[in-house]
Amino acid sequence: MLLAACSTPPDTSQVAEPTAELSAQEEQGKRAFSQYCGACHSIVGDTSIVGPSMAGIATRAETRIEGMSAHDYLIESILDPGAYLVPGFDNLMPSTWGTTLTGEQMDAIIAFMLTLK
Ligand code: HEC
Repeated sequence: MLLAACSTPPDTSQVAEPTAELSAQEEQGKRAFSQYCGACHSIVGDTSIVGPSMAGIATRAETRIEGMSAHDYLIESILDPGAYLVPGFDNLMPSTWGTTLTGEQMDAIIAFMLTLK
């Protein structure tokens, strides 16, 4: 009997590998990202739509605000987009995600964004 074989998520300690598969949570975040954020944010490098591309955001987020972790910067950028404006962009991102998204969706989107190194 191999009942559990298909439902076991991949080991998340491996997500740093560029070719590693996404965990179940990161997959959920990817889907939510394309649904809610994809109209304004590409994940392909150098492609701005309304907002900046998210290619490499996990690395960039670390450096945006001195002393703030990538995870905390992403949360702030989503819940309070006007707190830090990416140079060259206007304050056009909705600030309603705290009510639009469930906590589970927020966590999943952030987990997905942290794979975009
Ligand atoms: C209506 C267009 C729009 C939508 C929809 C939108 N954004 Fe944005 N976003 C922007 C703009 C414009 C900026 C640049 C200005 C700023 O920094 O707020 C931005 C900036 C960001 C940044 C900062 C990027 C950096 O390089 O520092 C993050 C992170 C971000 N958005 C995440 C999201 C996520 C996650 C969603 C979906 C839940 C989303 N955005 C939905 C327009 C949008």
